[in-house]
Amino acid sequence: MTFVVTDKCIRCKFQDCLQSCPASCFHEGVNMLVIRPEDCIDCGACEPECPADAIVRDTAPGAEQWVEFNRKYAALWPRIGSPGEVPEDADDWIGVEGKLDSEFDPSPATN
Ligand code: F3S
Repeated sequence: MTFVVTDKCIRCKFQDCLQSCPASCFHEGVNMLVIRPEDCIDCGACEPECPADAIVRDTAPGAEQWVEFNRKYAALWPRIGSPGEVPEDADDWIGVEGKLDSEFDPSPATN
């Protein structure tokens, strides 16, 4: 069992989730985070912390694709320790549809 980050995180990247994670599961791309499923202890602490409702349990409807997505990019992106800057326009991207196709950046974070 794991929690995973969905495309709702893209360009929001609030990072409130990080503070609640006791297992350092999060990995950072340029404009979103993912959870490494193998590290998640299924505590659920991060899920209610996300202002964009971007985190779901792997048993949620439609979550299967996000488990694979999180596994793939957690292997490619660096682990994130402490939160960085939140995008200035993060609030504007809450709930915007289709962000995976139009806004996703597969590059690892470099900071
Ligand atoms: Fe993303 Fe939500 Fe965390 S927007 S960075 S999953 S708090």
